[in-house]
Amino acid sequence: MKGVILAGGDGSRLFPLTKVTNKHLLPVYDKPMIYYPLQTLIDAGIKDVLIVSGPRHTNHFVNLLGSGKEFGLKLSYKTQNKAGGIAQALELAENFADDDSVVVILGDNIFEDNFKKEIESFKEGGKIFLKKVQNPERFGVAEIKNNEVIRVEEKPKKPKTNFCVTGLYIYDNKVFDIIKTLKPSDRGELEITDVNNTYIKQKKMKSYFVKGFWSDAGTFESLYRASKLVKEKNIKSKY
Ligand code: DAU
Repeated sequence: MKGVILAGGDGSRLFPLTKVTNKHLLPVYDKPMIYYPLQTLIDAGIKDVLIVSGPRHTNHFVNLLGSGKEFGLKLSYKTQNKAGGIAQALELAENFADDDSVVVILGDNIFEDNFKKEIESFKEGGKIFLKKVQNPERFGVAEIKNNEVIRVEEKPKKPKTNFCVTGLYIYDNKVFDIIKTLKPSDRGELEITDVNNTYIKQKKMKSYFVKGFWSDAGTFESLYRASKLVKEKNIKSKY
């Protein structure tokens, strides 16, 4: 299993904080944001990690994280030329993944849980990680029937449940074939939600409910909340 951290995008919701730097380098309490998803992968036993980011900032990540030796990892880097969506960023991991499965984490997602068991027990298809939230309209939202996810809707105006699809995903190598079939959404992006719906239609998607704290950190409110909770809950990056 290989790890992929997606840290591209324009971070436009955090402007002007992101005018000259990348969202994932901003502080969440006492560490750069990307340290948290990196720690989630390390705790899950992943050793080989690709970081995808935009052209203005790839070198900043190299300056910060280097070869990965300090973290006990092998780190690689790839540049996404334009912010064409999460699925487009993931497509850049195809050569890196080789024939392996991938655990993908969004660079602005902060988790308290340890996912080692969930990742080690993964065999094929896909797996998404759900969390009950107060404001589902801001996320991908899972529609659930008889304890099974039957569809995911990206930022629905009228969400069918309160269960958000967090930014942690496990996919087998077929994900790269699926991405090649996608068409850009109305906002011009290749959507990870469309990848998830393809696995759901093929009845190859499993889901898991996140138990501990989870937050993204891509808006002023969520960045503030994430910093506060990281401090209060003592969610530590070891580095
Ligand atoms: O945080 C979970 C949510 O993340 C999910 O519930 C949604 O289904 C998913 O679409 C995503 O929603 P956001 O609106 O929060 O996505 P955002 O555009 O902020 O991108 C999240 C991360 O993905 C970002 O921190 C970096 C990476 N990314 C994003 C884009 C658009 C890339 O690496 N490249 C990109 O082109």
